[in-house]
Amino acid sequence: MNQDSETPLIFPKWLDSLRPVVGGVLGVLPIYLLALAYLGGSPQTTDVGYRPEQPIPYSHRLHVGELGIDCRYCHSTVEQTAHAALPPTETCMNCHANIHTESEKLLPVRESYSSGLPVRWVRVHDLPDYVYFNHSAHVTRGVACVSCHDRVDTMEVVYQAQPLSMGWCLDCHRNPEPNLRPPEYVTQMDWQPDPNVAEHAGSHIRETYDINPSEDCSTCHR
Ligand code: HEC
Ligand code: HEC
Ligand code: HEC
Ligand code: HEC
Ligand code: HEC
Repeated sequence: MNQDSETPLIFPKWLDSLRPVVGGVLGVLPIYLLALAYLGGSPQTTDVGYRPEQPIPYSHRLHVGELGIDCRYCHSTVEQTAHAALPPTETCMNCHANIHTESEKLLPVRESYSSGLPVRWVRVHDLPDYVYFNHSAHVTRGVACVSCHDRVDTMEVVYQAQPLSMGWCLDCHRNPEPNLRPPEYVTQMDWQPDPNVAEHAGSHIRETYDINPSEDCSTCHR
């Protein structure tokens, strides 16, 4: 998804319906500017690039990009539940009980393993509480990790790549085709449709799986 593509939606459809009412009082231009300041300038929508320091210098570039570990090996609930679970220490120890056993960088992993206390990873993405999001509803319908998180396999430190604003969500709910693929490929970072059918691939998948993302307020605000 291109970040620029959300700009026109900074003025969402539901504000349109208020335009005749409020617009009559204040005029159209100030309303647009207000909406821009409110939706476009609120902190949540400008968190793109947020990259908190983590307690362990864990690298997706190394583990996914080089070692080729699938996302679901660690984020094991992503297809079943709303949240994509972070891996427990045991998952790291499957390998690190034998690999780099003396590493300074892995000391917090070993401490967590012996104490039983989880590693305190710092949250990167965080929608406001009044928004409902669900991973399984997306990944089982063929919306890939890369559409919302970009090329995690190249990230030394993972960061928020997309605005996660309402305009960004709606942009895709209104026009999902460019972001659809057969669900079995959702974790493949470099997947491309077969070039012979590329032009129609999205609409074909949409028809085959009967995909109709909702724009109702109650879908995301419950
Ligand atoms: C070997 C385990 C492992 C694999 C494989 C893995 N991750 Fe992660 N992931 C982690 C850990 C640990 C964290 C928490 C630390 C961090 O943010 O870097 C994390 C964090 C993340 C976050 C940020 C979570 C937040 O706090 O908002 C995203 C997004 C993410 N992973 C996506 C992916 C994707 C997409 C893949 C597959 C391409 C993947 N991960 C593969 C272990 C893994
Ligand atoms: C349609 C967009 C979208 C897709 C597709 C998507 N994510 Fe996310 N991801 C998000 C959003 C939005 C959040 C923040 C959720 C919140 O704050 O409640 C998030 C958060 C996360 C987190 C932090 C834990 C959590 O659930 O809050 C991890 C880990 C993660 N995603 C991994 C993945 C992996 C792995 C895939 C692919 C298998 C994936 N995501 C696909 C949008 C997406
Ligand atoms: C499937 C095996 C596997 C899993 C699971 C795994 N790792 Fe690794 N990890 C490796 C390998 C292999 C290397 C070493 C690569 C090299 O040195 O070339 C490594 C290297 C590292 C390093 C760098 C260590 C150093 O001293 O350079 C850190 C830090 C690390 N892993 C953290 C983690 C964390 C945290 C987890 C759990 C979320 C995890 N790993 C899960 C295989 C794994
Ligand atoms: C890249 C495309 C894309 C993005 C971005 C996206 N969605 Fe979706 N969303 C979809 C698709 C496709 C579906 C599945 C529709 C279907 O099953 O017919 C869906 C379904 C959902 C559902 C499930 C609805 C139901 O009826 O169960 C929720 C909730 C949802 N999205 C919320 C969000 C929120 C909140 C965001 C932004 C933080 C978001 N989505 C961003 C494409 C997207
Ligand atoms: C596809 C998901 C989705 C749908 C559908 C949706 N919203 Fe939102 N909405 C969001 C997200 C995500 C945010 C949080 C934006 C942020 O953090 O900047 C949000 C934020 C808001 C806010 C707070 C604005 C702000 O900047 O603080 C209001 C008000 C709102 N939505 C109203 C609505 C109304 C009314 C509808 C129906 C016409 C609707 N939403 C439909 C996802 C959605």
